[in-house]
Amino acid sequence: MSDAHDLQRFSVDPERGFLPAKDPARLLPSEFSAWEEIAADLPKLLATRRLKLTLDRLPILDPSPLEGAERERAMLLLSFFGHGYAWENWREAINERIPAGVAVPWYQVSQALGRPPVLSYASYALNNWRRLDPTRPIELGNLALLQNFLGGLDEEWFVAVHVAIEAAAATALAAIWRAQAAIASDDSNALESDLRTIAVALDAMYRILRRLPENCDPYIYYHRVRPYIHGFTEHPVVYEGVDAYRGQPRAFFGETGAQSTIVPALDAALGVEHSSDDLRIYLTRMRDYMPIGHRAFLGAVETRPSIRRYVLNSSASSARLREAYDDCLQLVRDFRAKHLEYAAAYIQKQSQSGAYNSTTYGTGGTPFMKYLKKHRDETARHAIGTSQTIDSPDGLPNDEPRLPLKVPRDSVPSGARVTPAPESPGSRSAGDRRWCSRSGRASASRRRPRRRSR
Ligand code: HEM
Repeated sequence: MSDAHDLQRFSVDPERGFLPAKDPARLLPSEFSAWEEIAADLPKLLATRRLKLTLDRLPILDPSPLEGAERERAMLLLSFFGHGYAWENWREAINERIPAGVAVPWYQVSQALGRPPVLSYASYALNNWRRLDPTRPIELGNLALLQNFLGGLDEEWFVAVHVAIEAAAATALAAIWRAQAAIASDDSNALESDLRTIAVALDAMYRILRRLPENCDPYIYYHRVRPYIHGFTEHPVVYEGVDAYRGQPRAFFGETGAQSTIVPALDAALGVEHSSDDLRIYLTRMRDYMPIGHRAFLGAVETRPSIRRYVLNSSASSARLREAYDDCLQLVRDFRAKHLEYAAAYIQKQSQSGAYNSTTYGTGGTPFMKYLKKHRDETARHAIGTSQTIDSPDGLPNDEPRLPLKVPRDSVPSGARVTPAPESPGSRSAGDRRWCSRSGRASASRRRPRRRSR
């Protein structure tokens, strides 16, 4: 079976990675024109605070004929409606009920997709773009969003940066898969080449991340973009008309880049383990918010041969192989370091406005500064070094805490409130909780990405 075929089984496209293989659907069939009309007006309805009134009158449409890209579009529209409804007056309060015209089809579509009925990264970023020039690549300068909350340059750019990073990561995902096959056939030259490809992709991802401040201002992000992507962990909402929920409020996490499968896949491929903390528990929970295929890809990468162990143990482990591995680690560390800077500038350093937009907790509910920093440092600590003597099985210093990568599903901190998982095919038993509040081988070349000044 070819690598490309292998990847496609997980809805991973060899050229586009976790982005859909075809550009996202832009319009639903005419039976859904009521949704499309509201979606087109959503920024205006939010600006005038008329969205709630409008959605309260929305009839319940049956989304069951929709499949594939159209089903994803339905999920996208309903997620924007649900969050717009809940957070329309975010400075004062959350609407703790979602009307049946939104809630019922939202629940149905979410179950078909195997994700919870909440705005997740898959809808906010992966399926929310179009190319202005369809003959040009998926890259900054050629991307426009299909759906906005308020709209404007900062919101456009914030999401476009995520999409462009996803596109740049595609070659790394394909190289991860090949690298693990190279280990199985004990081909250290191929492994080294694949690690170099991963490094080139990581370098491209970093360069895109670094461009975020060009058009996304921290103040605007905090006040105009972030409020609508919060979830419902702190303030569970009732999904009216959804029989399965029996009128009980549901708490789901909000949208976050932590629901992207790229960094977890890199951690898994490079054997980067994080000792137990709130963010690690949270990251494991985020898998339930990823598309089913991407979750399965992550699981497969975790069970395939370990790149780290091979580099540590192989007699063929030349200085070049170690250097190639360490380059990748360094680049993941750099990505986390830049991301940490953004978390500080775009959230922590903002002066808190209202009770529903915390500067201390992430939309995922983690006290993020401490943990994002720890994850950055833990990444760096996995460096092997070209002359290091390996005296422990995982190559970490012997005093390093060794905890399993997988977090037990029930390892929720005491006092946490747990609600049932999305009842979806292929979804594991998971609950959301409120324990805090955020509110080609690209070039098969052996070229190393140029070192940046940091
Ligand atoms: C203004 C820009 C950004 C801010 C303020 C931000 C904020 C955060 C916060 C607060 C968390 C902690 C989890 C939570 O409690 O929500 C987080 C996690 C994460 N975000 Fe972002 N983020 C930004 C941009 C991005 C981008 C462009 C990506 C790229 C895909 C990304 C990927 C991630 C990942 C992978 C994690 C998990 C952290 C880890 O694995 O160490 N974020 N983000």
